[in-house]
Amino acid sequence: MRLLIMGPQGVGKGTQAALLSEHYGIPAISTGDIFRYNIKNKTELGVEALKYIDKGELVPDELTNKIVKDRLAMDDAKNGWILDGYPRNASQVEALDAILADLNTPLDAVVALDAEHDVLMERMKKRAEIEGRSDDTPEAIAKRLDVYAKETAPLLATYEERGLLKTFNGVGSVEEIQSTIVAELG
Ligand SMILES: Nc1ncnc2c1ncn2[C@@H]1O[C@H](COP(=O)(O)OP(=O)(O)OP(=O)(O)O)[C@@H](O)[C@H]1O
Ligand SMILES: [Mg+2]
Repeated sequence: MRLLIMGPQGVGKGTQAALLSEHYGIPAISTGDIFRYNIKNKTELGVEALKYIDKGELVPDELTNKIVKDRLAMDDAKNGWILDGYPRNASQVEALDAILADLNTPLDAVVALDAEHDVLMERMKKRAEIEGRSDDTPEAIAKRLDVYAKETAPLLATYEERGLLKTFNGVGSVEEIQSTIVAELG
């Protein structure tokens, strides 16, 4: 099973991706987590990525595409994966298309989660208190939401046209949402 999970900040992508990963026995790959891991370990990539992340901006495509290409080529990704946080703009969609064509592995579905603005803001506020992510400042959050609306949300139409999009309500219990997704994906 090869899946993308998409939706605005705070909608629950990471949570649902982890459960889908367990259910299907495939790795959940989050570009945000990969960047945070590199930041924590002060790698060259981490130092570069941090410049953008703390401002709520996208890390440059060249860097991000390379990370995804390398990650999807790893052994544990042979039988499937779920990508969380990628692609985020039209050029990343193109890059992913090329990566998948190379690997000869088409996408099975795009899981989109949806919730109202107020719900997202409330969840992010809570998460900021608990996790203390450095990009959960009001300025960075506003920027991330703006980038999402302008660059990422339009990609849903792209995958809809390809017949891959499945949209789910991101409001409800974690288990409820999970079983709805699994029932739909099979
Ligand atoms: N595909 C990507 N392209 C460019 N930058 C990315 C990409 N994925 C992650 N990043 C960088 O990492 C940051 C954190 O991403 P992450 O997906 O963890 O958080 P998010 O967008 O706030 O979503 P969520 O609230 O669901 O965790 C982004 O704001 C961006 O700077
Ligand atoms: Mg996340």
